[in-house]
Amino acid sequence: MRKILEINDLKKLAKRRVPKMFFDYADSGAWTESTYRANEEDFKKIKLRQRVLVDMTNRSLESEMIGQKVSMPVALSPTGLTGMQHANGEMLAAQAAEEFGVPFTLSTMSICSIEDVASVTKKPFWFQLYVMKDRDFIADLINRAKAAKCGALVLTLDLQILGQRHKDLRNNLSAPPKFTLKNLWQMMTCPKWCMDMLQTDKRTFRNIAGHAKNVTDLSSLSLWTASQFDPKLNWNDVEWIKKIWGGKLILKGILDVEDAKMAVKTGADAILVSNHGGRQLDGAPSTISVLPEIVDAVGDMIEIHLDGGIRSGQDVLKALALGAKGTFIGRPFLYGLGALGKPGVTKALEIIRNELDISMALCGKKKIADLTHDVLYDFRPSKPKR
Ligand code: GLV
Repeated sequence: MRKILEINDLKKLAKRRVPKMFFDYADSGAWTESTYRANEEDFKKIKLRQRVLVDMTNRSLESEMIGQKVSMPVALSPTGLTGMQHANGEMLAAQAAEEFGVPFTLSTMSICSIEDVASVTKKPFWFQLYVMKDRDFIADLINRAKAAKCGALVLTLDLQILGQRHKDLRNNLSAPPKFTLKNLWQMMTCPKWCMDMLQTDKRTFRNIAGHAKNVTDLSSLSLWTASQFDPKLNWNDVEWIKKIWGGKLILKGILDVEDAKMAVKTGADAILVSNHGGRQLDGAPSTISVLPEIVDAVGDMIEIHLDGGIRSGQDVLKALALGAKGTFIGRPFLYGLGALGKPGVTKALEIIRNELDISMALCGKKKIADLTHDVLYDFRPSKPKR
């Protein structure tokens, strides 16, 4: 096997080891995938300022996200169906993140449940909430996250309706997978995945199955989301959720200055600038391109995080330099998980840490707090070049 040196190496390996329908689920965006691509491409347009003859000893990546100490400001994003990239995927990724000293965020649409993840971790993980029509179920879900001592609730605002992802529809995506000839073939070509999967009982949406009333068929993601997710969700609901939860709250899915201002008014602890990895509104701008204006508008009133398109430690550095206090990675850790299980998630984090550390040093900086605009050439075309 080739040496694994960058996230793309993990991606190539995951593509071989994970059945196509689940690899595609992670590696997809809505419609033409233009926003999915823009998230990555716009990072590449930002250039770093090389500085020399600066003492580079005693560097540190330690910092804080919503007041929580992190070994580097990179949390694992909530990602749906993580336990289909690898058996027990959420439990393994949570353990890898805990050992690494970064937050893991469990998705509502996970395979392993809140309780499953709590049973294999010692420190608080974060929980991402989707709001469904059945409010009793939502209150119960929040209480389960509280009982598991989750350290933050990440409330997703941009998926009341599922964006159309062509790959999922073509692959007939479901969990547990439907046993069509095509799906069986996809699974048979990944024997290690099948063996691991046969040894776990965690193969459906365990946060939901057996907990939500009248939810019998969880199989087709798009149909199920359409019937259960609450399209009426609005800013007043945030207040209700904040009250029941009572802990740290991160609002995920902010892409617009006006929404960022509304988010500040809710008293949330942070906003996560996100376009859902390009999986929702195709044609929306990349997250990194809107970060500066959101920071300008609300940066002194609320902590700002960013996800979308981060594939290297350099991307993390760029987001921090443009004013994010923390970042989230989704696909990079999923590729690690699909490629190698828990050690693959650790590998993804190590790759990003190494790239962040070396790039920071070569920009002449020694700690996260030193990463400001000063390490970048201004990439916004409307602004004069430095
Ligand atoms: C769920 O969060 C998805 O994007 O599929």
